[in-house]
Amino acid sequence: MSTPRDILITSALPYANGPIHLGHLVEYIQTDIWARFQKMRGHNCWYVCADDAHGTPIMLRARQEGIEPEALIARISAEHQADFAAFRVGFDNYHSTHSEENRHYAGLIYARNRDAGHIERRTITQAYDPVEQMFLPDRFIKGECPKCGAADQYGDNCEACGASYSPNELKTPRSAVSGAVPEQRESDHYFFKLGDFEEMLKGWTRGGGLQNQVANKLDEWFEAGLQSWDISRDAPYFGFEIPDHPGKFFYVWLDAPIGYMASFQNLCDRLGASQPGLDFERFWGSDSEAELYHFIGKDIVYFHALFWPAMLHGAGFRTPDAVFAHGFLTVDGQKMSKSRGTFIKARTYLDHLDPEYLRYYFAAKLGAGVDDIDLNLEDFTARVNADLVGKVVNIASRCAGFITKRFDGRLADTLAAPELFAEFTAAGEHIAAAYEGREYARAVREIMALADRANQYIDEQAPWVVAKQDGREQELHDICSMGINLFRLLIGYLRPILPGTAADAEAFLQVEPLTWSALATPLLGHEIARFKPLMRRIESAQVEAMIEASKEDLAATAQQQSAPANPHLEADPIAETIDFDTFAKLDLRIARIAAAEQVEGAKKLLRLTLDLGGETRNVFAGIRAAYDPADLEGRLTVMVANLAPRKMRFGVSEGMVLAAGPGGSDLFILSPDSGAEPGMRVK
Ligand code: MSP
Ligand code: ZN
Repeated sequence: MSTPRDILITSALPYANGPIHLGHLVEYIQTDIWARFQKMRGHNCWYVCADDAHGTPIMLRARQEGIEPEALIARISAEHQADFAAFRVGFDNYHSTHSEENRHYAGLIYARNRDAGHIERRTITQAYDPVEQMFLPDRFIKGECPKCGAADQYGDNCEACGASYSPNELKTPRSAVSGAVPEQRESDHYFFKLGDFEEMLKGWTRGGGLQNQVANKLDEWFEAGLQSWDISRDAPYFGFEIPDHPGKFFYVWLDAPIGYMASFQNLCDRLGASQPGLDFERFWGSDSEAELYHFIGKDIVYFHALFWPAMLHGAGFRTPDAVFAHGFLTVDGQKMSKSRGTFIKARTYLDHLDPEYLRYYFAAKLGAGVDDIDLNLEDFTARVNADLVGKVVNIASRCAGFITKRFDGRLADTLAAPELFAEFTAAGEHIAAAYEGREYARAVREIMALADRANQYIDEQAPWVVAKQDGREQELHDICSMGINLFRLLIGYLRPILPGTAADAEAFLQVEPLTWSALATPLLGHEIARFKPLMRRIESAQVEAMIEASKEDLAATAQQQSAPANPHLEADPIAETIDFDTFAKLDLRIARIAAAEQVEGAKKLLRLTLDLGGETRNVFAGIRAAYDPADLEGRLTVMVANLAPRKMRFGVSEGMVLAAGPGGSDLFILSPDSGAEPGMRVK
């Protein structure tokens, strides 16, 4: 085999403000298959990723949850990593853009571009929320669509009629954060002069690293002219402060792709000492001979095929060899939809189905282009059951029993059908070429054609008939051993797609993790383990349950959004609505606490003498654990003045003071603002 290649692979960094869903997984599964394939081929391949942790939406979400952004991104990162691990997305490193490595490289790349004259300052006018005291990204301005008049549309495009416009065209604009009417304010921003890189980018685009559809898109952008890119944001912002401009922050998309480098640096720091060739300069230096590939969705091509190579080049780093864009996931032919239950979270899928199914189905649908891919749920069930359970796993189950029962688990010493085996190994190079070219659907078709051949061989040889005939022991042994060897090749070819099933099959075959070059050598005279079913059929009830659960997820989040997770509201939901007349029956008055004292024999009560400005009331209040009587005397508070007197063990209580809190020492009585006087009615 040729000398091993140095390959660094990335997937786009998911935003740290929401869960991984099946749409994301198109990308992570696609990339993981490629990385696993390269590793199986013996290459020096590294696959890194990270959470994209900066930006306004993350800042606002943390604020809404009442936590620090650091706490939010730590929680989301743990969730993302658990989901990826469950889908067997085998990152060599998973880091965060909110990391010291990333701060370092973002600062470095900015400074080098600035020193080379590629950064300029401009004053821009932008919508400003006077209540929240922050500039508003387009997404955070809502109003009436200027084209169709639909209410509550975002500042950049209308979901009702599809029109796109700029936020200052919106009618009756409002800040989506506070509801305030946005003002226009000026601010200094820093711009990356993309136009400086036009020639370099044109050369890079023609270098063969882009799919045709993507290269054509780039030509359109070149024709339209390359605009300078605003890379700064004003405080408050969750991100990195620009070193030489206090109060200004790098826009999230400036440091996001730099996160690829940061994650790789972190990997080198963790493992570099023990892994020859795992060295930052070797992969990122301007004269690097390593291969660098980014897998991304088609929505983020502009960032990866223009800004990113330009920034790298401007800072003296190497540029990517290729950017591989993929299309978007649809479910049953339509955009994923929360109300239809087809906006399926990774976690919800895992509650119902085996991740290997989805990996296989996506692989069976993925090509090298940017077309959208459809998850057709009926086809998904039928295809997984027919191909994986019906064809591949079936081969092993048809042969393994005889090997165990009749031959002590030992395979025969020779191959019964060497030409068939040779046909299978020869196909391996076509399959490898398909993987290399990201034509997974073609790889799957070729592998399934081989699976058909293997099943045909077993049908023709009919070991179950041979087994019943005397004197045909050797034949039975040879046929079943041949079947197991064909199964081994199929599993080897499917291994990048089905790492879990392959690991189980390797345990059954009692072999080391399969590599591509090892496949051509058959297993002869080798002992295998007892066969256990490797995969179960999908029942359509499982799929239906997943869809139902996705609809439930929606109901749960809708509720959360209208009432942000609050322990008080959860423990004690808002009571039934009342009309005004009912409320008006309640006579609430300002009262001065003239005296407060402990009550002999009552552990919880204080006796309060409340002065209503002339008349006084005697009230027993259950606040002894929360207040020292001396602190209460002289204070103003609010009481229910027309509550029927109640006879208690210690005397008559003539009203009630108002307090909030769960009880015990956590009770808080109300105080009016200054100016209120005893006897005033509260209404
Ligand atoms: N944070 C940015 C990427 C920064 S890369 C330096 C981002 N994050 S994302 O969470 O919105 O998306 C992550 C990746 O998943 C993107 O490549 C995106 O295209 C992909 N997908 C998100 N939804 C998808 C589908 N419904 N279908 C297919 N891919 C999708 O963009
Ligand atoms: Zn509209």
